[in-house]
Amino acid sequence: MPSLLDCLRKYSVVVADSGDIDAVAKWRPQDATTNPSLLLAAAQDPRFRHLVVRDMDQLFVNFGCEILRHIPGRVSTEVDARLSFDQEKSMEKARRFIELYEAKGVKRERILIKLASTWEGIRAAERLEREGIHCNLTLLFSFAQAVACADAGVTLISPFVGRIYDWHKAARKVEDIALAEDPGVASVTKIYGYYKKHGYATQVMGASFRKIEQILRLAGCDLLTIAPDLLEKLSNKEGEIERFLSPEKAQKLAIEKTPLNEAAFRWQHNGDAMAVEKLSDGIRKFDADARKLEAAVSQLSRAAA
Ligand code: E4P
Repeated sequence: MPSLLDCLRKYSVVVADSGDIDAVAKWRPQDATTNPSLLLAAAQDPRFRHLVVRDMDQLFVNFGCEILRHIPGRVSTEVDARLSFDQEKSMEKARRFIELYEAKGVKRERILIKLASTWEGIRAAERLEREGIHCNLTLLFSFAQAVACADAGVTLISPFVGRIYDWHKAARKVEDIALAEDPGVASVTKIYGYYKKHGYATQVMGASFRKIEQILRLAGCDLLTIAPDLLEKLSNKEGEIERFLSPEKAQKLAIEKTPLNEAAFRWQHNGDAMAVEKLSDGIRKFDADARKLEAAVSQLSRAAA
């Protein structure tokens, strides 16, 4: 019998969500994603010490290049969270990443620049896409964020499942939420349906999972980015799986196209308390981890001097 992971690969592109190069090599995903928290962990691992340099942009690119040696597809590299509300500086940072990758012989087609799905991040992505720089819009919690990303023509979005689930568990003071009512799974299902129904080219990559059931319930999503511990669990279990998301099912949905201008985006996003909190919290956490990474790197450099 095939493993759940083998079955999942039939319906969705499997992506590794990790800065651990050995884990990426082990799981042979199509693409890989990193973020400042994942790179903080990887950069402190003695196995990857040779990739650590004082320039943070170069450090991120070093990890990205190493990851690309083990995958056929794309790696996502995240823009500094401090730039989340600065369209111009986000674009400068994205262009610098691309320059650094190109200096190492990596073509821009293999890079996704990850930006927070703020209004400014989405506008930066819209303009970067016109320069041939492909973007992955992350920290995506609300339907308004997803609609704005599709209208901006970004290459890919990463709607989070686990952090939505975490927020609702805490709000309801419960240990678990049944899969059928899981608000994180419901969010990705709705976004996928909207995109396919209205023919948007933007790819949907479900992200941030807490249990394999959430992943399996999204089988059929364009891509799913999965941490190594959950990839392990999926590969250790045998069984058949059902395809839950498909363009055909989406065609039957009664869901209207609702383009958003800036005011409508801000208003709708603001109406979702979970999304407002999780977007702010996510930006703060990625920033905090990037600062920890800077401190760890300067300590390592001092020790080496
Ligand atoms: C992927 O793009 C995200 O960075 C990742 O899936 C976040 O997962 P977490 O909520 O487990 O940190």
